[in-house]
Amino acid sequence: MNILVTGANGQLGNEMRIVARGSADRYIFTDVTEQEGVETVRLDITDLEAIRRMVRENQVQAIVNCAAWTNVDAAEAPENRAIVERLNAEAPENLAIAMKEAGGWLVQISTDYVFGKEPYNTPCQPNQQGTPTGIYGLTKKMGEERIIKEFSPLPAPASPLPAPPLGECSVADATSSSLLSGNEALPQRGSGEGAGSEEGLPGGYVIIRTAWLYSEYGKNFLKTMLNLTASKPQLKVVFDQCGTPTYALDLARAIEVILHKPVQGIYHYSNEGVCSWYDFTQMIARLAGHSGCDIQPCRSEEFPSPVKRPAYSVLDKRSIRETFGVDVPYWVDSLQKCINNIKNDSL
Ligand SMILES: NC(=O)c1ccc[n+]([C@@H]2O[C@H](COP(=O)([O-])OP(=O)(O)OC[C@H]3O[C@@H](n4cnc5c(N)ncnc54)[C@H](OP(=O)(O)O)[C@@H]3O)[C@@H](O)[C@H]2O)c1
Repeated sequence: MNILVTGANGQLGNEMRIVARGSADRYIFTDVTEQEGVETVRLDITDLEAIRRMVRENQVQAIVNCAAWTNVDAAEAPENRAIVERLNAEAPENLAIAMKEAGGWLVQISTDYVFGKEPYNTPCQPNQQGTPTGIYGLTKKMGEERIIKEFSPLPAPASPLPAPPLGECSVADATSSSLLSGNEALPQRGSGEGAGSEEGLPGGYVIIRTAWLYSEYGKNFLKTMLNLTASKPQLKVVFDQCGTPTYALDLARAIEVILHKPVQGIYHYSNEGVCSWYDFTQMIARLAGHSGCDIQPCRSEEFPSPVKRPAYSVLDKRSIRETFGVDVPYWVDSLQKCINNIKNDSL
């Protein structure tokens, strides 16, 4: 299978590179920027024609979209609004168009930030309606909706009304709740043949919402806290926002399983368990052996930010587990593995 990875120089993209090392599939790693020491083909996912060319020339059967605007605070700046929307909403639509044309599969990575405003206290379901609190979550949600709309079949003409005049065919409204009402309500595709297989599967989408992503690569909360807990005598971290960290390598492994047996729908993937950012930091310090930092809990108000973060965005992983049989490790176990990798610099 020929698999195109976009945003390959980011956290998740780099973990996909690790997964690809042991795979029989042909992976093509693309990004807008170069990365030292690894091969990257240039592809800007805001350019539909460039995507089409790449898909055609490489006979791409599946795309894993790891590219996004991920700076949540900077997304709020009015001067960034257009590019954030282009990258998080329009670009996924471009990828969906290209995969629909090629009969392939699009694996889109979305976020717990599509939830946020509502005061949840139980894990969020894939079919749950959410209200984002900021531009990042809003544009990621728009991206989901545009992909779903792109792969939605045209509604059958309502008999006995006459067919509309040529050029006036309408498609389902992507903003309608029916398009986001869960996997049961969506056309289920895939029968175990693998993405874009020669058996002629029609292709489709798999949207995976994840949360609190960290890895050995790039900038992330884990690496920031490894530095701060090693260098500062005292630290305050918020304890009124709860979720679950996700080791990007675990997610990359899950994606590889899904690519070989795609079933269209929206799914959730994070590590297992629940914690606050305060608990996360305490565990980072403990596992790293950084005992010299006094870590204190505080409320979000003490760290004013342009965006109100979801107070509770734990994701329910039952459907991704049951549908694909993927492994969902406990967050502390995965954190230990990632810290070991960073410490050993074994990559
Ligand atoms: N990070 C999190 O905590 C988190 C949580 C939940 C969900 N997610 C989602 O998970 C996915 C992966 O996140 P991540 O943390 O791995 O992201 P990341 O590290 O920020 O990587 C994104 C990559 O996309 C590249 N990119 C930017 N503009 C592009 C364009 N026009 N065309 C192609 N590539 C472009 C970036 O390049 P530059 O660096 O040069 O801009 C970067 O290499 C994203 O969809 C994100 O929304 C992330």
